[in-house]
Amino acid sequence: MDIEAEIRALQLDSTEDNNGVVNPEDAKPEVEMTDKVEEEGMKDELDTKSQPVQAEPKVKDKEVSAPEDVEALDEMEIDKKRHLNVVFIGHVDAGKSTTGGQILFLSGQVDDRTIQKYEKEAKDKSRESWYMAYIMDTNEEERIKGKTVEVGRAHFETETTRFTILDAPGHKSYVPNMISGAAQADIGVLVISARKGEFETGYERGGQTREHVQLAKTLGVAKLLVVVNKMDDHTVNWSKERYDEIESKMTPFLRSSGYNVKKDVQFLPISGLVGTNMKTRVDKSTCPWWNGPCLFEALDSVEVPLRDPKGPFRMPIIDKFKDMGTVVMGKVESGSVREGDSLLVMPNKAQVKVLAVYCDENKVRCAGPGENLRVRLSGIEEEDILSGFVLSSVVKSIAAVTEFTAQLQILELLENAIFTAGYKAVLHIHSVVEECEIVELLQQIDPKTKKPMKKKVLFVKNGAVVVCRIQVNNLICIEKFSDFPQLGRFTLRTEGKTVAVGKVTDLSSSSSA
Ligand code: GTP
Ligand code: MG
Repeated sequence: MDIEAEIRALQLDSTEDNNGVVNPEDAKPEVEMTDKVEEEGMKDELDTKSQPVQAEPKVKDKEVSAPEDVEALDEMEIDKKRHLNVVFIGHVDAGKSTTGGQILFLSGQVDDRTIQKYEKEAKDKSRESWYMAYIMDTNEEERIKGKTVEVGRAHFETETTRFTILDAPGHKSYVPNMISGAAQADIGVLVISARKGEFETGYERGGQTREHVQLAKTLGVAKLLVVVNKMDDHTVNWSKERYDEIESKMTPFLRSSGYNVKKDVQFLPISGLVGTNMKTRVDKSTCPWWNGPCLFEALDSVEVPLRDPKGPFRMPIIDKFKDMGTVVMGKVESGSVREGDSLLVMPNKAQVKVLAVYCDENKVRCAGPGENLRVRLSGIEEEDILSGFVLSSVVKSIAAVTEFTAQLQILELLENAIFTAGYKAVLHIHSVVEECEIVELLQQIDPKTKKPMKKKVLFVKNGAVVVCRIQVNNLICIEKFSDFPQLGRFTLRTEGKTVAVGKVTDLSSSSSA
């Protein structure tokens, strides 16, 4: 049985992502009353020292333009244009950073002098063609090796949308960083190199094209723009045959990964290095056969379901620092936040007050779902917060558990590994990274009928769909997939490989399937 075909059995279709679809009229945030904080006086009971099964790279974003944390004088409401996080994914060297850098250049955020400086710097490092990538790859290590390590972050706008670019690393050693980027994203740009041999290497088993697509789908990236890049390369030369070959090979794979190819996926050819078919459509003299949109147009017209600004507030924390109080960073997955709100930091149930809300570098009075925020809090010390904690509404607070039931799709186990009670892996769910153990297999699901199989299940193999109980050492904040898809889907990884994807089906600690 083809493993990829079975991923569909998990039913992680984007149609299920319409959680909280609302009338656009409702888009202006209205904050729920959260004044009555429960008087529980809970102490932080957490053992914050988790011991991952393996040493995985630190998950951290880097801000490309590093805006100053200035108190903007003109407070603005930020609901005029929609905001989307777009993650750039794909195999190593596909051209993600180059394309991201080119977008910033074309949208006027990088001047010619800076480009010339990067050209010189890249040449000095014998990496002439990497100068565009230097806009996104800001660390010395990244520039020397020509590989993104940390997720780069940058902002640009089109007619209808404010975008935050999350430039993920393609190298397999940094997949955990890619997961952190994809977990924050609404849409994805999958960058494929059309250069002879490069598409093939990326697409092979073990290549990151497949792994990134499967992870993106699991982590809630609802829509994908597949950009066939390096069309200018002399092995491609804007060949329609090459473009068609890539599209026809990718399409069945995207479908088997759970994407509705007609509704959720759009292909287009570009050259990230030259900047062709990006801000304006490619010239007919360069590419006579392309009649579709350019990248900016395609990004502009991507439709994603609106989220409910009136839902219970949820913001997974991806980073924190001290700055006149405690500042936490994250993306709002549900609800709205306003200066003066009382909220909880979960799972330690710390009661906090919102002193200020920043969207990018701007101070705002309130912000709704989909926004990347920095929120200044009183009532908690920075040391008492870990990434993976969730800033939550008081009245409808997020659950904190050490055990839950999930439906898992086993992708590919390590050689000789058996998936059974006692199996250990690293769980990635929104911004949580935590060692976990399978404590009991409850039922195997027949991938054809999607019904539970009768016989008792003790172990399963690659491709199986199984309902099981999973335990973690420290309390984690998660949701049922059916309530909040973004906070209820996860991946299991071990020794640098993604071995399973899953969704949370039950948060009670009893073993009901
Ligand atoms: P990782 O961050 O390591 O995953 O790589 P990446 O996908 O960000 O690739 P990057 O942008 O660093 O580019 C890798 C190489 O491909 C560089 O030498 C680029 O100049 C080259 N490249 C990227 N886009 C294009 C393109 O459109 N045309 C050509 N000819 N080369 C390109
Ligand atoms: Mg890169």
